[in-house]
Amino acid sequence: MGERGLRVIREFRSYYDDLNGVRRAIVHRIPVASGQRWLDIGTGDGWFALEMERVLSPRVVIGIDLARCEVELAHQHARDANSRLSVFVQMDAYRLGFPSGIFDGVGTFLALQDICLDLPSMRRLFEEVNRVLRPGGWFALATTTPEDAETPSQKLALEIYQYIRAGFFTKAEIQEALEQVGFQVEHVEFYPTGVNLDPEEAKAFIQFECDWLERAYGWQNKPDWRAVWARFEPRIRALGGLEVDAKVTFLLARKVRPAKPLSELPLDLSQEVRA
Ligand SMILES: C[S@@+](CC[C@H](N)C(=O)[O-])C[C@H]1O[C@@H](n2cnc3c(N)ncnc32)[C@H](O)[C@@H]1O
Repeated sequence: MGERGLRVIREFRSYYDDLNGVRRAIVHRIPVASGQRWLDIGTGDGWFALEMERVLSPRVVIGIDLARCEVELAHQHARDANSRLSVFVQMDAYRLGFPSGIFDGVGTFLALQDICLDLPSMRRLFEEVNRVLRPGGWFALATTTPEDAETPSQKLALEIYQYIRAGFFTKAEIQEALEQVGFQVEHVEFYPTGVNLDPEEAKAFIQFECDWLERAYGWQNKPDWRAVWARFEPRIRALGGLEVDAKVTFLLARKVRPAKPLSELPLDLSQEVRA
């Protein structure tokens, strides 16, 4: 890849690191006391966990992610930020290696669509979150809800994510699953990020998303980014760019009862991601 390609990838990644301060704005909306234990699920390179550390004055924040490369990046960002209270561990969100009731809060930021590809998987994830939360604990869930995409360019970005690999759920589906497993949704809000990649950045985005699947999970049969770009390029160019991650939906829920044990539920686990 030439220097122009590398620069575009670096710049398009930096949009994601910042996302117009939306992580920080969301963490400020979490009503917590200091000194609590928080868990960040699908922490990626750790930005949401590090915001929690800054804003919530916790006792500890544990960020977990299935991908080792992301956990390593999170460690590096934590070092750069002189973090003292955040810990990052490679772990599967469906099998959290923690005792029940140990966390005061669980957060997850733009990871639901990566972790769960169908409704039974989402419900199973929420049960696991419910298990590790204490009674009355908070679940701060930030994700993309497809029905709220406003422009053709935002809709196209979701289509591309889904084509490469992502599950998206409507607010009603998320809310119903949360309530089924013992959460009460306290409020729902939207945050615009203002992201609009130009066509060259959109190309770098597609390459990054496709190649990341091999880097993170070792998938040899990842989609070929050139084929994905060829498929979507005309529409991206016609729209003048791609509004990726343009809107974040934030649901704040509280654990009001324990979930039923997993053994009582008939579940198809075939959609789970395995490293
Ligand atoms: C878009 S990234 C997360 C972004 C991050 N939360 C932030 O604030 O920037 C989604 C992450 O979910 C992780 N993930 C996917 N399936 C997972 C699973 N079963 N358990 C834990 N993490 C998972 C991916 O490895 C990826 O790093």
